[in-house]
Amino acid sequence: MISTLSRLDNKKSGFILVGQFAEVLASSGDLVNRMERILTAMRTPSLLLAHAVASKCMLLLDRHPRARLEELYEQGNFEAEFGALFNRLLLELGFKKTLEASNIRELYAEEIFEGIGTVSLPLNISNEASHHDNHMDMMFVVAAAKLRSAKRIFEFGTYTGRTTCGLASIADDVKVFTLNLPPADDPRYGPYIGTLIKTSPYRDRVEQLFSDSRTFDTSAFASSMDYVFVDADHSYEGVKNDTLKAFEMLKPGGMVIWHDYAPKSPGVFGYLQELSHERPLFRIRNTCLVLYIDGVNPNDFTPKTNAGFLEDVS
Ligand SMILES: C[S@@+](CC[C@H](N)C(=O)[O-])C[C@H]1O[C@@H](n2cnc3c(N)ncnc32)[C@H](O)[C@@H]1O
Repeated sequence: MISTLSRLDNKKSGFILVGQFAEVLASSGDLVNRMERILTAMRTPSLLLAHAVASKCMLLLDRHPRARLEELYEQGNFEAEFGALFNRLLLELGFKKTLEASNIRELYAEEIFEGIGTVSLPLNISNEASHHDNHMDMMFVVAAAKLRSAKRIFEFGTYTGRTTCGLASIADDVKVFTLNLPPADDPRYGPYIGTLIKTSPYRDRVEQLFSDSRTFDTSAFASSMDYVFVDADHSYEGVKNDTLKAFEMLKPGGMVIWHDYAPKSPGVFGYLQELSHERPLFRIRNTCLVLYIDGVNPNDFTPKTNAGFLEDVS
């Protein structure tokens, strides 16, 4: 990346600070390695992205006197001062550019699913403590299943089972299969796996499966699911694996939804960019949800209603 930035400097005289930026950044091994890992996970053409990030970072560094930058480097504080900020810039720019390069059509939920706004659901499907930008995400995940009368649902990634129970609440005859790593194999989420399912009134409609999705055999579920929700390992390889398995299990006319299509998950948005050129996708506007509906091409799709029904009163 550093040599890329330096080359750009020779070509684009406007970026006079690239050399200075590259020199200081090069001194911070961790930061460079992390940026390179993020670029790899995105699978986007990194030259343009590196260029865009460099120019943003330079604007920032330009406000700092050279002596101050050297001082930060000598003290080993460069990463502490700029690392998180550069990372965030890289992810936000990467997300924006990846979306531009994708075949993903953004529409409001009501434009894709006419009547979704009138579906009634338990309020606790939404997690008040969630750090996600949009607390409506899981409401839409469950409401779409209910509106489409899904009967067999598969979820990759259980965690506490909040969404699982929401999905199980939609009808008496629904069956929800939810797959997670065995708790002992996941020190971070392990203690919480399925805790909400145990006390849910809908627990009899849920079957918990414990396996690493990378080794999970889908043959017992082949072409049998109305709906698959992908929300487990968010690395590029993880989401690719789970997606390929989701398609093995999907019935004709079924639907797949992915969560965490957001700047913080370069593996998710990087992989979905690639997939969207094979299978065009929708994104529910202002959410972290991307979806595929078998037999519906987003590019020819006529929105079900006019978005004018929504008012922005901010
Ligand atoms: C984001 S959480 C799932 C959230 C849940 N879908 C919800 O809506 O509340 C991700 C879960 O995926 C699980 N996971 C991560 N990698 C996995 C893998 N390779 N196979 C199966 N589960 C995995 C984690 O243990 C964690 O519980």
